[in-house]
Amino acid sequence: MKKDSRNSDFGFFTEPCWPRSCLDRVGPLLSKKDNHMSIVDVNTKLVGLLGNPLGHSFSPAMHNKAFQTLGLNFFYLPIEVVPENLKDVARGISKMNFAGYNVTVPHKIRIMEHIDHIHELATVIGAVNVVTIKDGRTTGYNTDGEGFVQSLETEARISIKGKRHLIVGCGGAARAIAMTMAFKGAGKILISNRTEQKAYDLAGEINDKVRPCCHVVGKDPKEMKSAFQQVDVVINTTSIGMHPDEDRLPMDTELLRKGQIVSDIVYNPAKTELLKRAEAKGCKIVTGIGMLVYQGAEGFRLWTGVAPPVEEMFAVVRAIK
Ligand SMILES: NC(=O)c1ccc[n+]([C@@H]2O[C@H](COP(=O)([O-])OP(=O)(O)OC[C@H]3O[C@@H](n4cnc5c(N)ncnc54)[C@H](OP(=O)(O)O)[C@@H]3O)[C@@H](O)[C@H]2O)c1
Repeated sequence: MKKDSRNSDFGFFTEPCWPRSCLDRVGPLLSKKDNHMSIVDVNTKLVGLLGNPLGHSFSPAMHNKAFQTLGLNFFYLPIEVVPENLKDVARGISKMNFAGYNVTVPHKIRIMEHIDHIHELATVIGAVNVVTIKDGRTTGYNTDGEGFVQSLETEARISIKGKRHLIVGCGGAARAIAMTMAFKGAGKILISNRTEQKAYDLAGEINDKVRPCCHVVGKDPKEMKSAFQQVDVVINTTSIGMHPDEDRLPMDTELLRKGQIVSDIVYNPAKTELLKRAEAKGCKIVTGIGMLVYQGAEGFRLWTGVAPPVEEMFAVVRAIK
């Protein structure tokens, strides 16, 4: 039987997570040296991704490339876990040679029942996406909001401190972003959502638990116009504009002002219709790719204790996209 050179070049870790088209694009970025399976040994520190189903996750490729770039004896592997096995798997992993793991859908909330200590920010967000293991003791963090803030501050070259932000949407990602921004000193956070009650609930929770800096924007056109006029940053956190509905817009782009920063956390496509229109109006745009990379980079820092090679991580994610 003819050997499939792509399988042998990339090692087993890429195959369950990526479709063939992704392998073809990432191929040039992963040399034979990147195949960590040939060098995994008893001293290797493992990192896992717990979720179900894991689908086309970019995390194994991104982290393994980062470990390889810095010559760290770490290896990242996807672990599909059904909800009824989460407790056993989390317990087992904490007794093995794991430095930690990422947690994704549907386990981000339930995992909190199975870890020893939860960081303050993850506690107020109410979800954990990174777990570290030190001497058998597990600590849970949420780096989603931090990933967003780092992406915004690096790519738009601003500090979120004291600035006024409008967040459109109020789902899980918006929750992590808004809580983190309040935690890190955002001046004012306005929230608008299709289901208005959810926006009131989140704003109330942030004002009570973090800082009184949140307000809800209703659907009245005058109220919406006034919100766009007063903010420095506009952030789409809804799934509107995501592939395959790429032509859809999450807001009235006529309300955007030249010079405003517009960020869209949708990352497929990277430049959404919202960002194209914002750019045409003279706004500074920030894509969702940065949040994806920086949330991972923060996990990398927590597991390894060293600065992540962010450029190499971006290169892997861009190749997969
Ligand atoms: N870049 C990154 O690293 C990153 C990280 C996480 C998520 N994301 C992306 O962010 C998006 C949201 O993720 P999530 O986990 O927060 O999802 P979620 O919890 O399901 O929340 C979805 C939000 O979108 C709103 N929405 C959905 N369809 C809508 C429509 N037709 N009209 C108006 N509002 C609508 C929902 O409003 P209602 O409350 O009214 O339902 C809700 O506020 C997804 O596209 C996801 O891929 C990106």
